[in-house]
Amino acid sequence: MKILFYDTKIYDKESFNYNLKGKYKNIVIDYLESDISVTTAGLASGYDAVCVFVASNVNAEVIKILSKCKVKLILLRCAGYNNVNLKTAEKYGITVMRVPAYSPEAVAEHAVALALAVNRKIHKAYIKVRENNFSLVGLTGRNFHSKTAGIIGTGKIGTATCKILKGFGMKILAVDDNKNKELDFVTYTDLDTLLKESDLISLHCPLTTETYHLIDKVNIEKMKDGVLLVNTSRGALINTNDLIDGIRDRKFVGVGLDVYEEEDNNVFENREDDILESSITARLLSFPNVIVTSHQGFLTGEALSSIAITTLENSYQFENGTIIDANLVKATV
Ligand code: NAI
Repeated sequence: MKILFYDTKIYDKESFNYNLKGKYKNIVIDYLESDISVTTAGLASGYDAVCVFVASNVNAEVIKILSKCKVKLILLRCAGYNNVNLKTAEKYGITVMRVPAYSPEAVAEHAVALALAVNRKIHKAYIKVRENNFSLVGLTGRNFHSKTAGIIGTGKIGTATCKILKGFGMKILAVDDNKNKELDFVTYTDLDTLLKESDLISLHCPLTTETYHLIDKVNIEKMKDGVLLVNTSRGALINTNDLIDGIRDRKFVGVGLDVYEEEDNNVFENREDDILESSITARLLSFPNVIVTSHQGFLTGEALSSIAITTLENSYQFENGTIIDANLVKATV
């Protein structure tokens, strides 16, 4: 099995190379820094599989080129697959596999880190103390204890978040049609009640046509004044322009975003010397009560290792005809 690995970062190479042993020792991986595109897809000639990540644009044109190169397998080293044209992959007989879960706790812990940091103004305190400014003015936060958290989506990551927030002594409300019976300390409710009663709202549902811009002007107005909003799921769950209006209206005590609309050109790239083209991103970054991180919720050693092992296992199973359905991604219509 020969895999061409696109959009390689140093931490990817380390975790994959470390795991190329035992039953995976015959897998050969060549690493490219460039991401997959119509220009770079042709480089996959002579490879059995390509390995791509969450922001790789595996569109119909790219898949046609992969098919000409006789690539048989697209390995997504992530859970999401909205970036792959599944119908075209199916048409050309290319199998698509993913890593459905690697470390829900990694993302949940990052969501809570964002909530705590923006609430206790750690981002401001860090800068102030470095400048010899030991004044506490402007750093007042609020206890999480006895407050209400609203979790939208109690799948793997939402569940892990509920468990952490329970430890803070929070009352937890949740919205999800698939109720998790394990969460006997959580009160499932409707979205309006959750929006109205929560002091902290954290988004953990996938991006679908139903959830696109779930957090918009109408739903922001339903929230408590002084609410804290965290999004580690997908940027387009929130209508950013409506969020910015809400921030300007002083609706939010804080906003923590690991994902945001228009993040695609930024994700995992060093753009220190660039002038930001997106005014939405620049505007978000201008608010003192907003913390933005660059889609790093997954980024722990444990999660990277799990991603590498599952991806190698996927390619091993593909080669040996023993694929587990849960890791296969199929076109729905
Ligand atoms: P999951 O599939 O285990 O859980 C998603 C849950 O959302 C399900 O229980 C589903 O019933 C629920 N849901 C769907 N539509 C809903 C709606 N309209 N309202 C309320 N709940 C709804 O997914 P998992 O693993 O927990 O991941 C959640 C999201 O986290 C992913 O979709 C992905 O976008 C994001 N993610 C972010 C990462 C990061 O690095 N920031 C890394 C991995 C995932």
